[in-house]
Amino acid sequence: MGFTLDKVVPWGRSYDEYVSMFDLTEADLKLRILGCGDGPAAFNSALSQRGGYIVSIDPVYAFNAEQIRSRISETYTMVMTQMHNNKSDYVWGAISSVEQLGTIRMSAMETFLADFESGKQAGRYISGELPVLPFTSQQFDIALSSHFLFLYSAHLSAEFHLQAVLEMLRVSREVRVFPLLTLNGATSPYLQFVAEQLMEQGFGAEIKQVPYEFQRGGNEMLVIKPV
Ligand SMILES: C[S@@+](CC[C@H](N)C(=O)[O-])C[C@H]1O[C@@H](n2cnc3c(N)ncnc32)[C@H](O)[C@@H]1O
Repeated sequence: MGFTLDKVVPWGRSYDEYVSMFDLTEADLKLRILGCGDGPAAFNSALSQRGGYIVSIDPVYAFNAEQIRSRISETYTMVMTQMHNNKSDYVWGAISSVEQLGTIRMSAMETFLADFESGKQAGRYISGELPVLPFTSQQFDIALSSHFLFLYSAHLSAEFHLQAVLEMLRVSREVRVFPLLTLNGATSPYLQFVAEQLMEQGFGAEIKQVPYEFQRGGNEMLVIKPV
């Protein structure tokens, strides 16, 4: 049957995973970055510690650290069970087992939790949700979406995807989305529609291979910018 979830869940990846998923160069990491749907990922914390400029937006930031921790615990059990049941849909290389996956993810999420309250006060974690962002035009250089758009195609409409990407393009000069696959590992049914609509509206939409693959076949991102 493949991996399924009945709602979008808080689950967080590491700094190194973000760098690989979006093929971020040293120069990219010096830009003003917006993470949309960053949830409990460690990227914001680790990049800020390295002196980078990043703001993350996610509806889960309306909660406090303890409330988010308890939502992560519920998600952990659900995700680990599904991973065991669908092991062959994943590439077990850098992450070698379901157990190691659990350890890596929990460590990333602990990094996030330790940083959350101070980062929220500093304005690095903002509660909000696509397709409307509380930012001014071109406030950022790159806007990222990791494991939200396209992944949850069964939960969010094609029109939602288009409006979300257009809003990200309003506040940022470039958008990168990873992965292009749905939860069950198929290419998102909205990819072509979104790319075509964006091109009609004067944007270039290019699929680029990245040095990251965990979902089998999930080693591509969509890069969108004005032509
Ligand atoms: C699977 S997590 C991915 C977290 C992180 N980007 C990563 O890759 O590790 C999906 C996140 O999307 C967030 N989310 C749900 N609806 C959203 C919306 N409308 N706009 C932005 N983020 C949303 C959830 O709260 C959750 O934290």
